[in-house]
Amino acid sequence: MSNQKVVMIGLGYIGLPTAALIANNNIHVHGVDINPDIVETINAGKIHIIEPSLDKAVAYAVANGYLKASITPSKADTYIIVVPTPFKAKNEPNISFVETATKSIIPFLKEDDLYIIESTSPVGTTEKMMQLIYNERPELNGQLHIAYCPERVLPGNVMHELVNNDRVIGGIDEKATQKAIEFYSQFVKGELHPTNARTAEMCKLTENSSRDVQIAFANELSLICDKADINIWELIRLANKHPRVNILQPGCGVGGHCIAVDPYFIVADYPMESQIIAKAREINNYKSFWCAEKVKNAKLEFQLKYGRKASVAIMGLAFKPNIDDLRESPAKYITQKILQDSHDDTYYIVEPNIQEHKEFRLTSYSEAMNKADIIVYLVAHSEFKNSKISSEKIVLDFCGVLVCE
Ligand SMILES: NC(=O)c1ccc[n+]([C@@H]2O[C@H](COP(=O)([O-])OP(=O)(O)OC[C@H]3O[C@@H](n4cnc5c(N)ncnc54)[C@H](O)[C@@H]3O)[C@@H](O)[C@H]2O)c1
Repeated sequence: MSNQKVVMIGLGYIGLPTAALIANNNIHVHGVDINPDIVETINAGKIHIIEPSLDKAVAYAVANGYLKASITPSKADTYIIVVPTPFKAKNEPNISFVETATKSIIPFLKEDDLYIIESTSPVGTTEKMMQLIYNERPELNGQLHIAYCPERVLPGNVMHELVNNDRVIGGIDEKATQKAIEFYSQFVKGELHPTNARTAEMCKLTENSSRDVQIAFANELSLICDKADINIWELIRLANKHPRVNILQPGCGVGGHCIAVDPYFIVADYPMESQIIAKAREINNYKSFWCAEKVKNAKLEFQLKYGRKASVAIMGLAFKPNIDDLRESPAKYITQKILQDSHDDTYYIVEPNIQEHKEFRLTSYSEAMNKADIIVYLVAHSEFKNSKISSEKIVLDFCGVLVCE
């Protein structure tokens, strides 16, 4: 298969590492992105995102001539769609990027080509794209191999996980599944699990919904324990001593562009059936609102007790520990809510993984610790662990960063 050529549509957090991996297996990759800056950066052998080892992989692939980027597609044997699938108002999935990307390659398709969607997509998207393709190219009806293969890598470890994770591969028919498996087996060492397209689509959504539901259970427990005057961290530690119980840790909500988004792709299409999945989203969102209210109450209590306004340190803005990503971040939402009704109050906002932020004035951890009356931990960043905090301070630890492991 040495003469094969791949067109990768979308060169972002997933598309670019995948393109580099394929290219470094001596397969020609024509990467496509609508953003000309991204195309220029990649053609210079550089990268536009932060991901360990990706810089070397891209530089090597470009230097060897196996990876080229462009703003337009070209003829190939395999087409992979890795564009965003955000949601619109009312939490409904927006597959217009997948549609546009698919339309852009339709003129190039020929008999026996492989078309794969990797973007996280609502159930039925692959079938819809098949219809779109065959409506425009009826002479190809049944002649293409169309499949869905979701991605499950962890940002920060993408280059390792792309090769070693198991993958689920669902074709529109068995031949397409087989063709897609043959393609991925050239560069994936993890096991490749065959299924159909709808199951593969649902599998990706299920994985993230499962995480969301489990976190919602921990968050719900944290609300109950707060009222019942029980230490949630001790409770979970003890409950997890049961050989078949494994409760996750609560936090200040759920964020990021996967777990906080993908469950809505199920709820939007199956609202009556997805009661637990919908409720988990509600609970995790409510937990963030609850945290903001807790901070406001702590400020009021402080003012009543000491006759002056409290200064507040907010520790962490990212959507999870030790990253700089604020997408759908509950910590950011809580900070905005707290700041909304503060006028001349003093706040110290700390995010050690970011230098500057256009909305928040950031402070160092030590300054915030020294100066604030109330210290609010929203994200369990490593920098916050093992902190010695004066007993005069009021501490609200919503992420368990002060809990000894
Ligand atoms: N980032 C992750 O950790 C992750 C993990 C699993 C699944 N996913 C899914 O993978 C998909 C891609 O995510 P991402 O994080 O790589 O997104 P991203 O925003 O980093 O990259 C997408 C790229 O596609 C480009 N693009 C948009 N429309 C295009 C078009 N018509 N033609 C060519 N390029 C186009 C954009 O300019 C952008 O560079 C999404 O569905 C996401 O849910 C992401």
